[in-house]
Amino acid sequence: MIQVKDQIYHLGFRDWELRNFHGHELSTFHGSSYNSYLIKDEKTVLVDAVWSPHSDEYMNILEEEVGIDNIDYIIINHSEPDHSGTLVEIMELRPDIPIYCSVKGVETIRKQYHKDWNFRAVKTGDTLNIGKYELMFVDMTMIHWPDSMMTFVKGPNVLLSNDAFGQHLAGASIFEDELDECMVWQEAIKYFANILAPFTPLIKKKIDEVLSLNLPIEMIAPSHGAIWRKNPLSIVEKYAQWSDNYNEGYVSIIYDTMYNATKKMAGAIAKGLESKGVKSKQFNSSLSDMSDLITEVFKSKGMIIGSCTVNSGPLRSIAAIMAEIRGHKLKNKVGAAFGSYGWSGEAHKKIHKELEEAGIKVVMEPISVKYQPDDAELDACFQFGRDFANYLKK
Ligand code: FEO
Repeated sequence: MIQVKDQIYHLGFRDWELRNFHGHELSTFHGSSYNSYLIKDEKTVLVDAVWSPHSDEYMNILEEEVGIDNIDYIIINHSEPDHSGTLVEIMELRPDIPIYCSVKGVETIRKQYHKDWNFRAVKTGDTLNIGKYELMFVDMTMIHWPDSMMTFVKGPNVLLSNDAFGQHLAGASIFEDELDECMVWQEAIKYFANILAPFTPLIKKKIDEVLSLNLPIEMIAPSHGAIWRKNPLSIVEKYAQWSDNYNEGYVSIIYDTMYNATKKMAGAIAKGLESKGVKSKQFNSSLSDMSDLITEVFKSKGMIIGSCTVNSGPLRSIAAIMAEIRGHKLKNKVGAAFGSYGWSGEAHKKIHKELEEAGIKVVMEPISVKYQPDDAELDACFQFGRDFANYLKK
């Protein structure tokens, strides 16, 4: 148990081995943590629990450090199993403990565990006096589940923000200011791009709403990764930026290739962009981690996506990234498609259509090459990059 602030302790579990999250959807190369917190006031309050694969270890910590009989209240800010899994074991021993969660939290906990525990539904502004401190609840609907909320501890002024402001990161310290700053920020934007990006309009609104509460936030303690202690509002400011048509100005050229024809086209397009002063990165999607790749797309101003045609469509890694781009509902980005083919040549047309359907502003007709590009066709790809650069600057 690590002290976070006066009478508040980190009780969670650092998962050093985790390499995938949400099944195998999200890569977590630096592990993760499930940050459960304990507030020791006149009342003893447990805020969020951990995922059930870690139940035995967590229950031992809980018993040794707190004593399950001593818990007065449980707060579940969000009922996804990585934070609610061990409720089952706790409530088997203490079915009387009141569980404070949102109205939607009651519904989702019931539907997941089929138990009718002692729920107390709360909403923004509701408070719970626990002695010296008072807890205030803040609704965070759809950031990122319907039930999500945060708990603000008045007194030490700690915002227990659950998934919001978190990162999938297991570190030597639980505090951001004692960790590699680059790694914390990289994991924070990867978390945002992969988990929260589809909800950016809501996030923008919610951040304004939370700031309007004028909470004197001195620390933000999320449910994954590092606690923001040194400058806690820095991550709030970043969330405001990331949820406001964010990009870092460059173009991601994403391709998959069989005999390097599409790869050669990608290289020529990159040179065309460069000749107009536009920076780009090239990614072979079949060699790229999909979660890192969607983070790059999130950071890009433009995306140019290409594949050769196989079985009347793009290669499977391109089909996968197109599905991700569509699901993430990225705003204010421009795109174009390209590809090589042998006879039928559908891939680049399908990518073009899918970019449009994903809400990307497709600024040019796709460019394609039959079999291998010759010098004239590579020149056309170069010009394609220059033309795309012109649209990007508009
Ligand atoms: Fe960390 Fe949405 O659960």
